[in-house]
Formats: sequence, C-alpha cells, structure tokens
Amino acid sequence: MKIVVIGGSGLIGSKVVNKLREHGHEATAASPDSGVDTLTGEGLDAALEGASVVIDVSNSPSFEDAAVMEFFKTSTGNLLAAEAAAGVAHHAALSVVGTERLTESGYFRAKLTQEGLIEGSAIPYSIVRATQFYEFMNRIAADATDGNTVRLPPALIQPMAADDVASAVARVSVGDPLNGMVEVAGPEEFRLDELIRGALTRRNDPREVVTDPQARYFGINPSERALLPGTDARLAETRFSDWLEQQLATA
Ligand SMILES: NC(=O)c1ccc[n+]([C@@H]2O[C@H](COP(=O)([O-])OP(=O)(O)OC[C@H]3O[C@@H](n4cnc5c(N)ncnc54)[C@H](OP(=O)(O)O)[C@@H]3O)[C@@H](O)[C@H]2O)c1
Repeated sequence: MKIVVIGGSGLIGSKVVNKLREHGHEATAASPDSGVDTLTGEGLDAALEGASVVIDVSNSPSFEDAAVMEFFKTSTGNLLAAEAAAGVAHHAALSVVGTERLTESGYFRAKLTQEGLIEGSAIPYSIVRATQFYEFMNRIAADATDGNTVRLPPALIQPMAADDVASAVARVSVGDPLNGMVEVAGPEEFRLDELIRGALTRRNDPREVVTDPQARYFGINPSERALLPGTDARLAETRFSDWLEQQLATA
C-alpha cells in the first residue's frame, strides 16, 4: 500500500513518514522541497501514481488571512482532484480542535474551508482534529509578546506532543476511512496563561506573562472552553512537563 504524505517534510509530516515506515508501510514525503506543490499542482499527478492513501499535513507558509485561505482552498481542491484521477481510496487530513469556534481568525476560516472541501468530495476521508502542539507553545508566546510582556487570556487548553499527533494521524490513515472526524488531545488541561508562564520560567525566559481576559490568541479572544476537545477525544499519553524536561535535556 503506497501512502503519500503531503507536507511530509514538516514537523508532523516527517514524524508520520517515519512512523509509517517503521510499521512496514511504503510512505513517500511530498512537498515543494521534493518538487510537489499542491498550490500550483506541480508534480502532483506523478507523486500520486499508484497511491492508495494520501495524508495531508501541509501548512500554509503565510498565516495572513488571504494567503492562508488561498493556500487551503486551492491546495485542497488540487489535491482532491488529483486523488480522484489517481483512484486514491483514503484521504486523511490534520485539522484543529475547535476550528468552527475560532473563525474570528482567518487561519481557522481557511481550515474550516479545507474540512468542507474534504467532506464534500467523493473520496473516502478521515479528518483528525488535534489540539495545539507542545512544540507550538513558543509561537503562542511570541505572538502574544510585546516588549518583555506576554499577554494571554486564561482560556483552557489541552495541548499534546507533536509525536503523539503524528502517531494518531498515521494510525487513522492506515485504517478504514471514517468519513468523519476524530479528535485527539493531550492528557491534561491547563490555563493558557499559566501554561506559558510555567514554560517560560522553566526555560529561564525573562518575559513576564500577564493574565488578561481580553487578550487575543492569534487575533481571537477565545471563550473559556473554545480550545478544548469534546468528551469523545482520544487522549495521548505524553505529559507537558515530561516533554519539556526532555526538550531541555536534549537542547
Ligand atoms: N500548530 C498546532 O498547534 C496545530 C494544532 C493542530 C493541527 N495543526 C495542523 O497541523 C498541520 C501541520 O502543521 P506542521 O506544524 O507540521 O506544519 P509545518 O511544520 O509548517 O510543515 C508544513 C509542511 O507543508 C508543506 N508545504 C508548504 N507549502 C506547500 C505546498 N504549496 N505544497 C505542498 N506542501 C506544502 C511544507 O513543505 P516544505 O518543507 O517543502 O516547504 C511542509 O512540509 C497544519 O495543517 C495545521 O493546521 C497544527
């Protein structure tokens, strides 16, 4: 069974490719790096030749509203059309828990559009919605930083390790298509401001985290539970503190 991983050079994609290969699958990484561009369609038909499963874990290089919408709309459209022509039997894609509650942000409007295109296509599919990656915490802090201050709302968050996300995506992609969605999340719930404060302190980062219920999270003011998964979510095992200590030990 040939599996093509679109975005296979990225954070999640490279882990998915490795995990599939470890389990004996024929997995190919496809991205502009290897001459496959879903936005322009370049290299797509050749990459999908003989593929049974396509996993889309690509991401837009720009998070600007128009650019990210163009990326997910056009790329997903090109990809699904190429999959139909190649006779692909399963399209698996990674999205974000709470997407429909976060559409004040252009990024999440684009992710919702991506999901809608997948759901509306004739190709059997699975959508894995994950919570925020532990690896993404630096970017959350950076986006909320002004000078020495990091201003964040006390919204609840249940993040998870990228490695666990990749395991979930790989597992779902080799199973029967769900023709639906599954949520995956980390084992613990935190307040966003407290989580980032603790991580910065542990890293001896001098920035001060200020709790501000009005603060924005990537342009959105999330409600208390907007980032949390539902009760049916599959929970991963890696705890944030263990992941952080491992990062510090290998830094
Ligand atoms: N960050 C979070 O906390 C979070 C949470 C839940 C879900 N997600 C979702 O996870 C997915 C993967 O995120 P990530 O952090 O692993 O992404 P990433 O590390 O930024 O990697 C992005 C991948 O997309 C590829 N790509 C970019 N433009 C492309 C194009 N035109 N055609 C084909 N491939 C293209 C890149 O290829 P090159 O290396 O060749 O440029 C790279 O392999 C995203 O869809 C995101 O919405 C993220």
